[in-house]
Amino acid sequence: MIERLKSEHVMFESKFIQVENNLKRNDIKQAAQIIQGISDEIIQHAVEEEARLMRVIMYKAKEESSEPIKIMQEHNWVLNFLKNTMITVKKASTSSDPNVYEQAKEDLNEFVNNIRKHFEEEEQIVFPLTLRAEASN
Ligand SMILES: [Fe+2]
Repeated sequence: MIERLKSEHVMFESKFIQVENNLKRNDIKQAAQIIQGISDEIIQHAVEEEARLMRVIMYKAKEESSEPIKIMQEHNWVLNFLKNTMITVKKASTSSDPNVYEQAKEDLNEFVNNIRKHFEEEEQIVFPLTLRAEASN
């Protein structure tokens, strides 16, 4: 399961690179579409991490659960971005107002940077702990 979650991170990362390339050439619309295209998969991925990884951690490594809990709580802003901010970003991506357009670009860049950091935390803290907890009795 961890291997699949990791490979999903790799797949998402390839999309984030496409998002960045589109932002660099100021194609906010295309950048937003790429995020929209993986939105459901990201949500599904997050739900699965919370349900399955945290189940193992709470059951077998509860004393080490405070950091993983904090990392899982970061899913709140991920979901908030995908469900709310994306609506604004999509509207802004076709706006002729340069300020609105720039804001959408910033929002997308920030999302990509933050979610990358989040994946890194999962891979460095949550995934290894889950594997250790699973291996213990
Ligand atoms: Fe996550």
